Amino acid sequence: MNHKLEEAIRDRSAKIGVIGLGYVGLPLIRAFISGGFRTMGFDVDQSKVDKLLAGKSYIKHISSEWIAKHINDGCFEPTADMRRLAEADALLICVPTPLNETRDPDLSYIENTARQIAKVLRPGQLIVLESTTYPGTTREVVLPILSAGGLKAGEDFFLAFSPEREDPGNPKYSAESIPKLVGGIDHESGRLAALLYANAVVKVVSVSNCEIAEAAKIIENTYRSVNIAMVNEMKMLFDRMGIDIWEVIEAAKTKPFGFQAFYPGPGLGGHCIPIDPFYLTWLARRHGLATRFIELAGEINTFMPRYVVSRLQEALNDKSKPLRGSKICVLGVAYKKDVDDPRESPSFELMELLLAGGAIISYNDPHVPVLPKMRHYRRLPAMNSIPLTPEFLAGLDCVLIATDHSAYDYDLIVRNAPLIIDTRNATKNVTQFRDKIHKA
Ligand SMILES: NC(=O)c1ccc[n+]([C@@H]2O[C@H](COP(=O)([O-])OP(=O)(O)OC[C@H]3O[C@@H](n4cnc5c(N)ncnc54)[C@H](O)[C@@H]3O)[C@@H](O)[C@H]2O)c1
Repeated sequence: MNHKLEEAIRDRSAKIGVIGLGYVGLPLIRAFISGGFRTMGFDVDQSKVDKLLAGKSYIKHISSEWIAKHINDGCFEPTADMRRLAEADALLICVPTPLNETRDPDLSYIENTARQIAKVLRPGQLIVLESTTYPGTTREVVLPILSAGGLKAGEDFFLAFSPEREDPGNPKYSAESIPKLVGGIDHESGRLAALLYANAVVKVVSVSNCEIAEAAKIIENTYRSVNIAMVNEMKMLFDRMGIDIWEVIEAAKTKPFGFQAFYPGPGLGGHCIPIDPFYLTWLARRHGLATRFIELAGEINTFMPRYVVSRLQEALNDKSKPLRGSKICVLGVAYKKDVDDPRESPSFELMELLLAGGAIISYNDPHVPVLPKMRHYRRLPAMNSIPLTPEFLAGLDCVLIATDHSAYDYDLIVRNAPLIIDTRNATKNVTQFRDKIHKA
């Protein structure tokens, strides 16, 4: 039993280090500061550290005022100096877990972080992996790197997995208010990690080991991916039959049990749902099995931007217009409503397909003023978000609603644009000029 660490957690003198100050890391820092702890934030990106030190936030739902306040009161100390990892009593790893070129898990960020920690690891430290990954990562990948220096896990240092379940843009839930799963590589590691999080989040759910926690997180995301694919497929069928999928879902969800509403869209986006299930696919292959639901869901969801563009072409055709030369503005490049995160957003695929078809494209996103350069979409030109004035809208051939941000004035858009392709049912409350709206 590690009495010193336990005592430091209980009296909140333990220093919490969060590694990776992105969409997950910063809200986690906030949760621990609210819980009464002093925190350190580590990131290899010096420009992020400099911004934070200057009291500036780069994530929409964390305010600059909040950052500045806690830099000044000493509760938050951002740094790019990894030698200082030794100063923290608990280190929470929130680095990216993308797929590589062949769509296999890229664990290089986790491995690099574990190596950085291993260089300075000292007795009494608790390490928790939060990045989404396949079951087995904590024990098979992180543990050997941390143990290489001779310290013994479960006695000298402690290691657990606790998945982040952040839902960016959802005002109802924050890192603090979402129950947290915790599983250790051994009993003592799990117990200390659970004790730590109990001070920062509303509820801790302890599970038998880290593999259960890892598998639970990936099953949560797979569940979403598969169900979204199911409604996307239904949408294509119901569209053809002239049945409104949105009204169907509203009707079905009045059943008080056994049905959870998922909504169709222009494709999958974000750093999690389109990626994490494929971590499991890769793992299944190693076990000689296939994950057919995941593959099928991936196939359907990946096809959606093409489907949307074909619906858009049909609508233009009805007005005797070809796609080539048509002026089309895509609304929303963030992957979901009211966030500023463009990662894996289907809007990029939509824009590239439109461009390939000869359309003259523009975009608007109140949360993304400049189109970021994306690794997979190099053909897209540099663009800035164009303000949606009545004159600009009237000069277009079509508006394509890809993301249903609350900030949009849908009445204004429908009144002025000649044609609206709505992939999110964002215009459901618009009462005038509905004949201009095509759901897709
Ligand atoms: N964004 C979400 O909504 C969300 C939700 C649940 C889980 N997750 C998971 O959480 C993890 C982090 O995602 P994110 O969205 O916060 O990513 P992010 O890209 O916003 O942030 C990751 C940060 O880690 C930094 N980093 C990379 N390598 C590092 C290293 N070796 N040492 C220190 N810092 C390093 C990067 O510079 C970056 O600032 C991923 O595994 C993701 O799947 C994300």
